[in-house]
Amino acid sequence: MDDILTITNLSKKYKGNDKYAVQDLCLEVKAGELVAFLGPNGAGKSTTIKCITGALPYSAGNISICGFDLHDNPISAKKNMGYVPDNHFLYETMTANEYINFMADIYGVGLNDRKQRAEKYLSLFELTDVANKQVGGYSHGMKQKICIIGALIHEPKLWILDEPLTGLDPKSAYNLKMLMKEHCKQGNSVLFSSHIIEVVEKLCDKVAIIDKGKLIVSGSMEEIKSSNTDNSLEEFFMSVTNGSEVDGGEKFDERFSSGEFD
Ligand SMILES: Nc1ncnc2c1ncn2[C@@H]1O[C@H](COP(=O)(O)OP(=O)(O)O)[C@@H](O)[C@H]1O
Ligand SMILES: [Mg+2]
Repeated sequence: MDDILTITNLSKKYKGNDKYAVQDLCLEVKAGELVAFLGPNGAGKSTTIKCITGALPYSAGNISICGFDLHDNPISAKKNMGYVPDNHFLYETMTANEYINFMADIYGVGLNDRKQRAEKYLSLFELTDVANKQVGGYSHGMKQKICIIGALIHEPKLWILDEPLTGLDPKSAYNLKMLMKEHCKQGNSVLFSSHIIEVVEKLCDKVAIIDKGKLIVSGSMEEIKSSNTDNSLEEFFMSVTNGSEVDGGEKFDERFSSGEFD
């Protein structure tokens, strides 16, 4: 199988912080794979994802997308990727249609393709009627759905989503899960982060578990579940992470003093 994403020994430290947010992480995503990046709060999922998208510089390691090294060939690497961030960032004064067109322009999508895809996704997420309204007035879930459409408009080989199901209503969450599956069936790949074990267990072929910046295990869902006596991902997850949640007040203070919220 072709490698869509290869991460080799990725390490990332934030400015003014001695500790690694991500350390020595290796991960492969192959064509057709639907991979979950599972870990407690503060484990390093978003940091890793932001490094893959090129939004954050990394301290060491290599990232390659569809064979293009992100440092050496950033444009070619990024052309093959679509990203849905956890904060559903959008330009608030744009309408949904304008935003989708803007994304289509950036990725050089032809007029017919963009029209067809926009119609399909806007209708799937029941946004057709509001697509000419400014996104600043949208709810959290509606913004999330527009980000999803914007990330899919160029049919990327690698679709990356950071906690994509948070804040979606049940029908939209179901539709998104179906889209993720469909994307992989067409020979593309999906990497999405989550801390919701049930979703990951039902949806994915492969899971990578991260805790305290380090990849603890990655493998097929079957392999991981069967390595555990009661055959459940939850028990396995608890045993390898000690059920830890590390993003407490102390971490917030570190992030605050690092200037993240300036
Ligand atoms: N901008 C930042 N500045 C400093 N530290 C950060 C910043 N963003 C995240 N961190 C720290 O890096 C670690 C990993 O965070 P993150 O990647 O957001 O975890 P996750 O997405 O798994 O919840 C945490 O300890 C977090 O506090
Ligand atoms: Mg996160």
